[in-house]
Amino acid sequence: MRSFVLRARAAPTNSKELLASVGKGAHTEILAHSLMNAIFVAQSHRADVTAYLVLESTQDFSRTICFDTNSMREIGGFHEQALLGKVAKALDVSIGMGKEETRPVETGVTVRTISFERLVKELAEHHQLFVMDRKGTSMRQQVFERSPCFLLTDHIPMPKKTFNSLERLGAKKIALGSTMLFASQCIVLIHHELDQR
Ligand SMILES: C[S@@+](CC[C@H](N)C(=O)[O-])C[C@H]1O[C@@H](n2cnc3c(N)ncnc32)[C@H](O)[C@@H]1O
Repeated sequence: MRSFVLRARAAPTNSKELLASVGKGAHTEILAHSLMNAIFVAQSHRADVTAYLVLESTQDFSRTICFDTNSMREIGGFHEQALLGKVAKALDVSIGMGKEETRPVETGVTVRTISFERLVKELAEHHQLFVMDRKGTSMRQQVFERSPCFLLTDHIPMPKKTFNSLERLGAKKIALGSTMLFASQCIVLIHHELDQR
């Protein structure tokens, strides 16, 4: 099982704002590109992948949308509009939720009002956590023992204090070279590296 968490610090939790932010300051296209590269291959989707999108620009609670490829049925297109449509649908379903609640959106897709910090704490119980960082250990040298979970951000970097709490959870920094890549490009390279092993 491979998991990816995209911490989208600029992404609005209001569906209309989310859709209106493509190519603007919040760069919500990052969510579509990352989701596409995490869950799809040509003509199908990848088995055994969980992708979490954590949207943090909110009036109340962060929204964590979880896509589980082993349960997903209605893929419904892989273009930006279709993928952001799925995210927008999950945000609409989440209207009125209290703190740390979960609601089903469609088969294989759920939405939770859980923060990035709480989510990674949960994931740390069953996954080996890796923070993607150019200053980390080269991915080629990393041994993967149990379900790896890769943590990425949108165009806004992870706050310094988050690195400290992630370290306490056992997270390790890993790098994919020294060039600054998009999160979605990192996901392609991570899949490629793991596919070779
Ligand atoms: C566009 S980058 C984030 C840019 C942000 N301004 C920053 O300084 O971190 C998106 C994500 O990809 C990760 N990333 C980009 N290039 C990487 C590389 N060569 N190795 C590992 N992670 C990388 C970043 O750490 C981040 O999680």
